[in-house]
Amino acid sequence: MTALPLTIALSKGRIFKETLPLLAAADIVPVDDPETSRKLILDTNQPDIKLVIIRATDVPTYVQYGAADLGVAGKDVLLEHGGEGLYEPLDLKIARCRLMVAGDPNRQLQLSRPRIATKYINTTQRWFADQGRQVEVIKLYGSMELAPLVGLAHYIVDVVDTGNTLKANGLAPLEHIADISSRLIVNKAAMKMKHARIKAIMVRMAAAVGD
Ligand code: ATP
Ligand code: PRP
Repeated sequence: MTALPLTIALSKGRIFKETLPLLAAADIVPVDDPETSRKLILDTNQPDIKLVIIRATDVPTYVQYGAADLGVAGKDVLLEHGGEGLYEPLDLKIARCRLMVAGDPNRQLQLSRPRIATKYINTTQRWFADQGRQVEVIKLYGSMELAPLVGLAHYIVDVVDTGNTLKANGLAPLEHIADISSRLIVNKAAMKMKHARIKAIMVRMAAAVGD
């Protein structure tokens, strides 16, 4: 019996780099390097396993709709997406950071309706609404740290790792929303239809996950 083909969605950069050793533990090795290749579908050493290389924020969407069976996405991206249509069976403990409210450390978060710039609009709205705090959320696609410096927003919600980006821009972390790491995600139908295959990959990846 031939195995059902599998497609795995990954984003370029830190997630691709940090997922490579975990995929290798499951004997999945890409043939091309996405940093140098213009291909969006990469072959692997296994003829029936392909990698699709997409934007980090698009990974849950591809997996939700079954365009990819598996994917690797940051918990920040999953919180924002909502997790519909997918399982999140494995914390890969890579690309670790924290989702934070940040701003000018000398300003208290007590304006009556502060403006918050972020690419995480759903998570931000939920964070403040759950505490009964009124805010205006402004959607940005990157460089959030700039917004308070030019008066676009009073605060930002973004991921923080070393804190160097905040510090370099005179900002500081103010409130911790969530600890973030990347997760293996699986399309719900694929988990049923291709269970043995996916389970075998999950077990081998889980054994390779660090502390
Ligand atoms: P997009 O392509 O949608 O703009 P992105 O630029 O956020 O995505 P990456 O910078 O590769 O993509 O980040 C991918 C994931 O890595 C994020 O969703 C987050 O979980 C994590 N991450 C982001 N920044 C850091 C960081 N400085 N340190 C550790 N992990 C991070
Ligand atoms: C992320 C995030 C912050 C920065 C935080 O951006 O949007 O700007 O990393 O990391 P730090 O606390 O270690 O400074 P991005 O992925 O664009 O930045 P990077 O590639 O420099 O990590």
